[in-house]
Amino acid sequence: MNPNRWIACAIAGALALALSAQPPQQTKGGLARDPGQAPRKGTINVQKAAFGRLPDGAAVDLYTLSNSNGMRVGILNYGGIVVSLTAPDRAGHYADVVLGMDNLEGYLHGVPYFGALIGRYGNRIGHARFTLDGKTYTLPKNDGDNTLHGGIHGFDKHIWNAHETGDGLELAYVSRDGEEGFPGNLTARVVYTLTPQNELRIDYSATTDKDTVVNLTNHSYFDLAGAGEGDVLGYQVTILADRFTPIDKGLIPTGELRPVRGTPFDFTHSTAIGARIGQNDEQLHFGRGYDHNFVLNGSGMRKAAEVYEPKSGRVLEVLTDQPGLQFYTANFLDGTIHGKGGKAYPFRGAFCMETQHFPDSPNQPAFPSTELKPGQTYHTVTVFRFSAR
Ligand code: BGC
Repeated sequence: MNPNRWIACAIAGALALALSAQPPQQTKGGLARDPGQAPRKGTINVQKAAFGRLPDGAAVDLYTLSNSNGMRVGILNYGGIVVSLTAPDRAGHYADVVLGMDNLEGYLHGVPYFGALIGRYGNRIGHARFTLDGKTYTLPKNDGDNTLHGGIHGFDKHIWNAHETGDGLELAYVSRDGEEGFPGNLTARVVYTLTPQNELRIDYSATTDKDTVVNLTNHSYFDLAGAGEGDVLGYQVTILADRFTPIDKGLIPTGELRPVRGTPFDFTHSTAIGARIGQNDEQLHFGRGYDHNFVLNGSGMRKAAEVYEPKSGRVLEVLTDQPGLQFYTANFLDGTIHGKGGKAYPFRGAFCMETQHFPDSPNQPAFPSTELKPGQTYHTVTVFRFSAR
């Protein structure tokens, strides 16, 4: 080897070693870096592999993003589904902390939105209808009398156009005027970015050619002990919300913004999920546990929540610019779904932190508006940051 080449190789080797030796980032409570800022490029690897074919023959691909710490995130172009995500424990061991299925077939039959992108409207629209500009739009009912997560064929059940960005994956989907009852051709774009700081950043944007409503989110089910390792009742949760939106028995917000103080919904100080979940509380009965939208304090990009798993030491911080967060403790899981590696996913065997506008906003004039008009761009950012302590 000529000496110049040898020196170049040695420098590259030393650099790779230095990067791989970086310890997992520790949580300090505050923001280490403005999460709105684009992450550094060049240290993220993206690999593409075939994942299967839909019944109509469409090819589904799995994109795996990895950083030099060892964090890996697997994402499908089908539904933008996050199929796997590894995070470090306090000893630096990475484990897969999201529920998911081993193959495409698993995702096609009755899986409750594991890891998927949700649209055009995340969570419920009451009585499956809303009125916009004086016109009433009727939507398909897929949750009793209501529409849940965009209807029968929501954004989670479509192939998105995918392309690699260098440090992540950009997905695009055009939802046609009238699709699932919603007005306007909506062009949606979601960019998943993995950062060197063990964050998965999700940028959502959308434009329309007619007045419409939009509320996009991601429906990852997290289990910080490792997917399929039991229930999450011992996990310590903080949600930076002084109020939540109580629901009726159909899980539709009543319109009230109720203070959490003195209720089992007060997570303003770190509290175990299971500490109060069994209390005789009407709201907990309606949700079969926690399945509620929290009214996040403040505005702009800020910390919304933190979850700590005491055994592994894993920490998830959630940052968002959205007004709400659906905290859902997987009360509809019952052990009958066998996910990755054949593991059963039990009752309350995960939690979801769905950053969003409030459920049923199109029917609730006092809630922050979810309307999008031609010429406007919907843009929102959520960051899931992983560390250990
Ligand atoms: C909803 C739950 C629902 C779950 C899975 C959550 O966002 O609030 O009620 O069961 O998604 O569909």
